[in-house]
Amino acid sequence: MSDQAYWEGVYSRNAETSLSWFQNSPDNSLALITKHSALVNKHVLDVGAGTSRLIDKLLHAGVSSVSILDLSEVALKTAYSRIPPDNVDKVSLLHGNVLNYDLQPASIDIWHDRAVFHFLTEHQQRQSYLEQLARVLAPNGLFVISTFAHDGPERCSGLPVCRYSIEELKTIFGEEFSLLESIEERHLTPTGRAQSFIYGCFKYTPAVINK
Ligand SMILES: C[S@@+](CC[C@H](N)C(=O)[O-])C[C@H]1O[C@@H](n2cnc3c(N)ncnc32)[C@H](O)[C@@H]1O
Repeated sequence: MSDQAYWEGVYSRNAETSLSWFQNSPDNSLALITKHSALVNKHVLDVGAGTSRLIDKLLHAGVSSVSILDLSEVALKTAYSRIPPDNVDKVSLLHGNVLNYDLQPASIDIWHDRAVFHFLTEHQQRQSYLEQLARVLAPNGLFVISTFAHDGPERCSGLPVCRYSIEELKTIFGEEFSLLESIEERHLTPTGRAQSFIYGCFKYTPAVINK
């Protein structure tokens, strides 16, 4: 089964509020973004957005433009159906794989990812992610990432994941991404299990700007 079919199945068979990663309010993501960036005249990309309520919160906080990208069209449509009519023109739905989606160079001011990167268990996948991120994020842009921490689960939605410390994330993303802040989170799943996440908020300063 393809990754796309897998995730379509997950969102087609389950109520979003029953999914282990469900958050009624993505407080840590929102706090990092709003503390370290303005929202007016900014374009946010949420990769692997699923049905996350982050876009609702960002629109409420005054963001100018937000794109949500996911392998699941069902999830994207669910998220879109919540957007009030006066805000729909600020939202773009991007259905596909973040590793090879055709995004404009330096077009994104804030890249947010809660839980795609930790599904990339092969070196080549992580390399593709890094290349896409560095190509698409504008200089001085913000990169906010959240993955399972080392005491978090070894699988998510039945799939194996890689777990990280903030030091490991710093090493992977390298010198062009300087850490502004990190947060440790004990996420409670809808069934009450605790899961450890690590969040990192980085500023992107490319050594060479020739995109
Ligand atoms: C654990 S869920 C998290 C959803 C959302 N970020 C949240 O916090 O509620 C992971 C999401 O990433 C999506 N996904 C996984 N791999 C992806 C990829 N390579 N490209 C785009 N989306 C992907 C899945 O479809 C799923 O919606």
